[in-house]
Amino acid sequence: MPITFESTSRTFHLRNEQVSYLIRVLENGTLGHLHFGGSLAESGSYGRLSGREFLGFANRLGAPVALECPTPGTGDYRVPALVVEQQDGSTALDPRFVSHRVFGGKPAIPGLPSTYVQSYDEAETLEILLADTPASLEVRLFFTIFADRPVIARSARVRNVGTEPLTVECAMSAALDLPDSDWDLVHLSGAWARECEVRTRRLEAGSQSIGSVRGASGHQHNPFLALKRPSTTEESGEAYGLSLVYSGNFLAEAEVDQYQTTRLRIGINPEGFSWTLEPAAEFCTPEAILVYSDAGMGALSDAYHGLYRDRLGRGVWRDAPRPIVINNWEATYFDFDEPRLLEIATAAHGLGIEMFVLDDGWFGRRDNDDTSLGDWTANRDKLPGGVEGLARQIEALGLRFGIWIEPEMVSQRSQLYADHSDWVVGVPTRPRTEGRNQFVLDMSRREVVDHLYGVLSDLLGRAPISYVKWDMNRTITEPFSPSLAADRQGEFFHRYILGVYELYERLTRAFPQVLFESCAGGGGRFDPGMLPFAPQAWTSDDTDAVERLRIQWGTSLCYPVSAMAAHVSAVPNHQTGRLTPLATRAAVAFFGVLGYELDPAALSDEDRESVKGQIAFYKAHRDLLQRGRLARLRSPFEGDGNEAAWLIASPDSRRAVVGHYRVLNRPNRGPARLRLRGLDPKTSYRVSVWPAGEDPVSTANTGLRGGDELMRVGLLVASDDPDDSRNVGDFTARLFDLEAQEATHRRARA
Ligand code: GLA
Repeated sequence: MPITFESTSRTFHLRNEQVSYLIRVLENGTLGHLHFGGSLAESGSYGRLSGREFLGFANRLGAPVALECPTPGTGDYRVPALVVEQQDGSTALDPRFVSHRVFGGKPAIPGLPSTYVQSYDEAETLEILLADTPASLEVRLFFTIFADRPVIARSARVRNVGTEPLTVECAMSAALDLPDSDWDLVHLSGAWARECEVRTRRLEAGSQSIGSVRGASGHQHNPFLALKRPSTTEESGEAYGLSLVYSGNFLAEAEVDQYQTTRLRIGINPEGFSWTLEPAAEFCTPEAILVYSDAGMGALSDAYHGLYRDRLGRGVWRDAPRPIVINNWEATYFDFDEPRLLEIATAAHGLGIEMFVLDDGWFGRRDNDDTSLGDWTANRDKLPGGVEGLARQIEALGLRFGIWIEPEMVSQRSQLYADHSDWVVGVPTRPRTEGRNQFVLDMSRREVVDHLYGVLSDLLGRAPISYVKWDMNRTITEPFSPSLAADRQGEFFHRYILGVYELYERLTRAFPQVLFESCAGGGGRFDPGMLPFAPQAWTSDDTDAVERLRIQWGTSLCYPVSAMAAHVSAVPNHQTGRLTPLATRAAVAFFGVLGYELDPAALSDEDRESVKGQIAFYKAHRDLLQRGRLARLRSPFEGDGNEAAWLIASPDSRRAVVGHYRVLNRPNRGPARLRLRGLDPKTSYRVSVWPAGEDPVSTANTGLRGGDELMRVGLLVASDDPDDSRNVGDFTARLFDLEAQEATHRRARA
């Protein structure tokens, strides 16, 4: 049984082979935190870990007592997990333990996406009921431990058990108190086209946080943070991860107090948030996923990858091989007609591409970005047979058909705006701020969600559409909904995202065969909350291979390769003007869900053959690349950032593909090696190099090599031949394809 309760010390132990999470009901009934980290013996008694008897903060004001549900006003001065304004205006809160229950499996959270189990023995859940009598408030905390993952899922529900309304001002999904502050804080921050840069900084006294108040998780910060020891590497050392299964405004924060203890919290951003709880009403927080690793950042990511791919993603596309798409955006932008699209599709089909995706510009009078969002009917000048006509012709070519939509938006120049200008987010007495010439629809309103469901289900029902790219290109300003009372406007942002989830839920249920890809100007809403609906996301609008090394590396800290759409585009690259070799662009995009975003009809004969070869390689390795285990080997964020390397190995370690990338070439570099991970040291691997070459590096690596040698000595990635670097140029990539040989098991070397 992973969850036990020791009644003498009132200690809960959530335990598996990898982690232990210990909670104790303190002497006064407050819920204390004892430990989250490496697994401890089941039989041990751990009540003493709470230190001195805790009867409340009297005489110990501000003491660093580790708490599960910290609240303000009763002696804990650190950042709280729960703030509730009561009828008299007070906010002091002191919830105490009432009862608990333990059950197999894991409950869903009403209206919100969450991880799940497929059988009751995959996880066990502890539900703890706390109550604050003066506030007439009940709090239920949920802690799920998965049987074989180093993961704890947490969420909370607060209920008004009184007769007067209460106002929730802050309801975090999780708080975690750690006994020291010797940590580096790691977060994924950036901007449009520069998403998920890995930022690492020392934890300092006071609070440090990331978050969003934009209405979406945002390009600027991903709802993920990690702590790692300064000595932790990809393969060794301690690390914690906190990730939020949510797509709206969030806060992730670390606070170090005067005793060098650390409090982490993650949840809906309290800034701009408040929620009125009527008598008997309940508020559910999103889910936070906590991971502990004592084997470095690689194992931390591995835990997130497996959980998010297999138990957050769902539906037929969770496990199915993802198709290789051609997307027309960078090939045509808004300037296309049906013959042009069919030309692209025909050429793409000849290359082995499997799906044609029609991007922006197919509807209303959309010839540029200042019109027609909301009018989701085909522009007949461009598509005389409508979407249906085009889709059928694409299918007749042997490709499946996908389409771009941006349902949450409306252009001022549109029929939808003319009919329903009152559906637009904004404060009636103020000018509305435009972004990308568009406004945001008020997704907190049922009639808006119903309207969009009607229009989109009609579109998906009429044409043979197999894929939808759901974009979201601007963030929210003047947050306000006329459907909410004045004292409930603080609910707007959360209700907006609940509306988005509802629309996604209805559409994915009605069209289970359709593969949805989420997008928000690239990675502006690349978060776990999207994954149950859209198992993959457009990682970034930046398709430059060198930039993508950083973006995909950063994104992979939390998200699996199967979630990261990665396209090969034309050069000069449209975002950077950089000229990278076609093979390098492919070698980077292989470490994502491969697609193409260029005009295949314009390729030279030589490039066409290369692309055919890329697609054949990807198809032959697709299952490995989309479902294998990623090991990050050399970081583009470390050193001079001139190199990067990673590999994906099959779960049984019998196959692997290694990618090694060099940004700028240097003459006479001297020999260099790259050590691999995740192989079987006792197995021999046949190594081949892609693209195949006659150069010294290719020759030296090709052939049979032991897993021990590959991991303890490494592959040669630069030779000692001074001529080796001549005529090679910048932005080079090499893939090493490893396949275990049958019946060649070797004895491990001591
Ligand atoms: C966003 C997306 C792009 C493309 C354009 C179309 O920027 O991220 O991929 O779809 O919108 O307008």
